[in-house]
Amino acid sequence: MDTVLSGIRPTGRLHLGNYFGALKNFIRMQHDARCFFFIADYHALTTHPDPTHLHDNIRAVLSEYLAAGLDPNVATIYIQSDVPQVAELSLLLSMHAYLGELERTASFKEKARKQPDNVNAGLLCYPVLMAADILLHRADKVPVGKDQEQHLEITRVLARRFNTLYGVDFFPESQPYNFGSELVKIPGLDGSGKMGKSEGNCLYLADTDEAIRKKVMKAVTDAGPTEPDSPLSEPVRNIFTIMEAVSDPATVAYFREQYARCAIRYGDLKKQLAEDIIRHIAPIRERMQAIAADENYLHQVVGDGAAAARRSADETLREVRAIMGIKPF
Ligand code: TYM
Repeated sequence: MDTVLSGIRPTGRLHLGNYFGALKNFIRMQHDARCFFFIADYHALTTHPDPTHLHDNIRAVLSEYLAAGLDPNVATIYIQSDVPQVAELSLLLSMHAYLGELERTASFKEKARKQPDNVNAGLLCYPVLMAADILLHRADKVPVGKDQEQHLEITRVLARRFNTLYGVDFFPESQPYNFGSELVKIPGLDGSGKMGKSEGNCLYLADTDEAIRKKVMKAVTDAGPTEPDSPLSEPVRNIFTIMEAVSDPATVAYFREQYARCAIRYGDLKKQLAEDIIRHIAPIRERMQAIAADENYLHQVVGDGAAAARRSADETLREVRAIMGIKPF
């Protein structure tokens, strides 16, 4: 049976990119595999969040996971810092991660550019900690969006290097995973780039219907097609990409045809898109409010998840230590 793992940083509420890039794929697999889903609070520390907000964010994200359909009866759901074994594995793996390759990581270069006053060692070692998350449970498949592809590549490099160096076949070659075939990148509605918290262009699972309608109606478009079958500009292509995730295929086909015939009205396209997004997220938002208020339930989910994740982590670390020659007297 495959082991599947995914995670998210608790840096804000879940947005459509998180949901369609990672969470939904994970939820579809949770009954058919050995599954782990965790909240990456150690990773969130790289940007020095306010300690009083960190805990509230973890709570909110956990409630959203559960409301979206993660089932604690079949998947192990835990908070990264409840399983400190991951820090030990990260340290051990870091002995085989070279400065040059970490400095070349796209996410490191981008963060170093965005926050030049806080280029800390945690940022540099971010992919090693992520590899430790994945290899801690020896995960075969990792449901993530396209932005995490390079981190998965580094995970495989470290796993391969470990296996080769110690002459073992211990770590798997973990693959990024999407239920379709291609990894997805959900774009923003501001014309270019991905939907992301730091981009400030998110449609959140917690947004009210009105907020969704407002944001979608403001989406950037263009002057409209003037010739039949002309190619889509980036902002319009982005609207169709989101539509492909939330609307049924007949709806997408209808608007594509309208575009090809130069008969499209962007106002109608956006109205349809907003209603289809609302159809997906309104039920999640409602369940979320009930779950967030249920202190005992959250406590139990996190406690059970931590215990199960620690058991799995202990097993891996016992073997890793032995392989590397760290043995008890
Ligand atoms: P994070 O917190 O930025 O995002 C969580 C998940 O959401 C996906 N995602 C997207 N997918 C498609 N389109 C988008 N616009 C979009 N925005 C976000 C991300 O690809 C991710 O799957 N480093 C990770 C967290 C992490 C992790 C792990 C993930 C730490 N350890 C181990 C998997 C396995 C991150 O920052 O994701």
